Amino acid sequence: MGLEVIDEAFVQAPEHRPKLTITEAEGIPLIDLSGGLTDDELVTEIGKACKQWGFFQVVNHGVPAEKRRRIEAAAREFFALLSEEKKKVRRNEVRVLGYYDTEHTKNVRDWKEVFDFSVEDPVLVPRNDGDGVQKWFNQWPDKPADLREACEEYVKEVQKLCEKLMGLIALSLGLPANRFNGFFIDQTSFVRLNHYPPCPIPHLALGVGRHKDAGALTVLAQDDVGGLEVKRKTDGEWIRVKPTPNAFIINVGDIIQVWSNERYESVEHRVMVNSERERFSIPFFLNPAHYTMVKPLEELTDEQNPAKYRAYNWGKFFTTRKGSNFRKLNVENIQIHHFRVSE
Ligand code: OGA
Ligand code: NI
Repeated sequence: MGLEVIDEAFVQAPEHRPKLTITEAEGIPLIDLSGGLTDDELVTEIGKACKQWGFFQVVNHGVPAEKRRRIEAAAREFFALLSEEKKKVRRNEVRVLGYYDTEHTKNVRDWKEVFDFSVEDPVLVPRNDGDGVQKWFNQWPDKPADLREACEEYVKEVQKLCEKLMGLIALSLGLPANRFNGFFIDQTSFVRLNHYPPCPIPHLALGVGRHKDAGALTVLAQDDVGGLEVKRKTDGEWIRVKPTPNAFIINVGDIIQVWSNERYESVEHRVMVNSERERFSIPFFLNPAHYTMVKPLEELTDEQNPAKYRAYNWGKFFTTRKGSNFRKLNVENIQIHHFRVSE
């Protein structure tokens, strides 16, 4: 993406441009999942982190460092290939998984290239034209030869971590640990390999523009470069998440916001790029089955605390989003606030 002239498509509106002074997040909680905490203490910590930040980091999470190193190395090798090679697994309107470098967030182009693959292969999603379901298949490149295996092994480990975290989050909401399990039986979870090349206009562009994650939970591996910023709930300030070796960054997505009837909120975040160092990151987006009707859990609503959202179909939401990020549109993306009950 070495651009000689500034491509307007990447330029953020002045109020969304990155700040050149960085506030680092001492505040984002770092939680040791197999440290000295009792189960009750762990649940309390997780609940506090979800409520106050919507973001936290975990260490001693059980994902073997070797599995993570392997997928990171394979991702690095893949993105180093010539563009023609990468484009052999390029996404299009029909095959929406694979490689692309043209994603837009809120209609501004992101300074990145990505490779998406689904955890279930194929994954079932609603057809675009209304009735019935369709299958999305992964597209694996020939090179690097071990990318597929590295991805599949990594995913198995991260899924175990997701189950543990969703259990802790359920307990922190006063629910049984397995309360969320059923939603993920035919999961539509996917993983994205992100590559943020050095950028000649880091003061004007973003690696990913401000957004909230639409799924239930995100488990992100970032490298040591840094660039992820989280909008602090207390004052709306953008706070840099400091890279911690081997840690995962966890954030609550829109679906947990709805399920919890806003006890926990999905928080806005974005990615800054820089002119010197490329950056790699790997988010795992934990998503429920396509047929899930997302709505506040009955256990968490009553007359005093009525449901703040109408039910919406996850599969339709998901496919609409995936389709609209494909090109620049002049309308707002589908958002959960479209289903919010006005007060
Ligand atoms: C995303 C995202 C953060 C990062 O892909 O949704 O927020 O650090 N990525 O790459
Ligand atoms: Ni995100």
